[in-house]
Amino acid sequence: MVNNHDRVVIRGLRGVAAAETKISFVEPLGALYYLGYNIDALVEHVCYEEVVYLLLHGKLPTRKELDELKSQLIAEMILPEAVINNIKSFPLNSHPMEVLRTEISHLSMYDPDPESTSEHVNIRRAIRLVAKVPTIVATLHRTRTNQQLVAPNEEVGLPENFLYLFRGKTADSEEKEAIDRFMTLHADHGFNASTFAARVTASTNSDMYSAVTGAVGTLKGPLHGGASEKVMYMLDDINTEEEVEDYIQGMLDDQKKIMGFGHRVYRSEDPRTKHLRVIAGNLCHRTNTMNLYNLCRRIENVVHEKKKIFPNVDFYAAVTLNALGVPFDFFTPFFASSRICGWTAHVIEQYKDAVLLRPSSSYVGEYGRPFTPLEKR
Ligand code: CMC
Repeated sequence: MVNNHDRVVIRGLRGVAAAETKISFVEPLGALYYLGYNIDALVEHVCYEEVVYLLLHGKLPTRKELDELKSQLIAEMILPEAVINNIKSFPLNSHPMEVLRTEISHLSMYDPDPESTSEHVNIRRAIRLVAKVPTIVATLHRTRTNQQLVAPNEEVGLPENFLYLFRGKTADSEEKEAIDRFMTLHADHGFNASTFAARVTASTNSDMYSAVTGAVGTLKGPLHGGASEKVMYMLDDINTEEEVEDYIQGMLDDQKKIMGFGHRVYRSEDPRTKHLRVIAGNLCHRTNTMNLYNLCRRIENVVHEKKKIFPNVDFYAAVTLNALGVPFDFFTPFFASSRICGWTAHVIEQYKDAVLLRPSSSYVGEYGRPFTPLEKR
């Protein structure tokens, strides 16, 4: 018998490179690159749809290519009637991430080219998902709050339309910039857990919808994208800046994780945080909620003093979405609605790599246990 219990286990796959990728690079010292472009430059100079094009095609679009993609995205924001009806039928207490996970899976039954696995069709499929995921999220919110569904506005881009479909009112220029930047900053992030889940599914040559459905389920967890919602519950629990020190110390004494802090890869501040901090600050200023922003700054200082860890993307993302009027339980669906372009790009890259992702394990159980028949147990 082969003895495999002495195989080296890299617990949590920490530091393991599971494949090569050209899509994004998470630099531990605090930088993030999409296809070689620093996120700091992208967030300042390009719109979200340019990022979508970049991730799916590996290059920034020309004006004509961008215009074409924008039109395609708006046209694809329409959902099949059956998906809308399903969304209306879910129990009111189901979490929006549960609905999203289910309806992405449902969408696969309405794919116009179900048999084709060509790259061209997969890019087309990715565009459908990038457009339809935000609409699923908006449709659920409108339905839950007994508000009429709104049709996409062909005059504006996808991020602005996402807010429009969700809230039913046109975003002003500051809100438009905020949602565009939010989506750009969340578009991709190396081999994070949900992307890895998508790639594992794609590596079996399963379809893109299955891969993305798995990714949504993975993102939902509070150690990953589910953290942003939890951040807001924490902020709700702390009433004043004076309470921060005791609250954080209490959490640490109870061995609890502070949501929106820490990261598997970054050893300094998450490069997305500085952008989201500015966006959140500006929105809080407009909405007269600077007390919330100041509370966050205090929490940052106290957590850093005590644990030497920094806020990650979810911390100020939560404050940003809150200021845009998004309910807490829709925070992670907004994350998913942006990360969908990274997931689909990784699925396409994984198909090209054409290797089954299948690690081994170190078996530490017993061998040859004596068998007792059912009636004698
Ligand atoms: N609160 C308290 N302590 C923490 C936290 C935290 N949020 N994060 C890390 N630590 C501690 C950790 O316990 C360890 O302490 P010690 O050395 O005393 O055992 C030390 O800091 C180093 O931790 P690490 O090895 O760098 O962390 P990890 O890779 O095991 O975990 C993490 C990464 C993201 C799961 C963790 O930081 C966490 O649970 N954070 C809270 C949840 C969260 O905000 N998730 C979002 C992650 S980033 C965006 C996304 O994926 O959505």
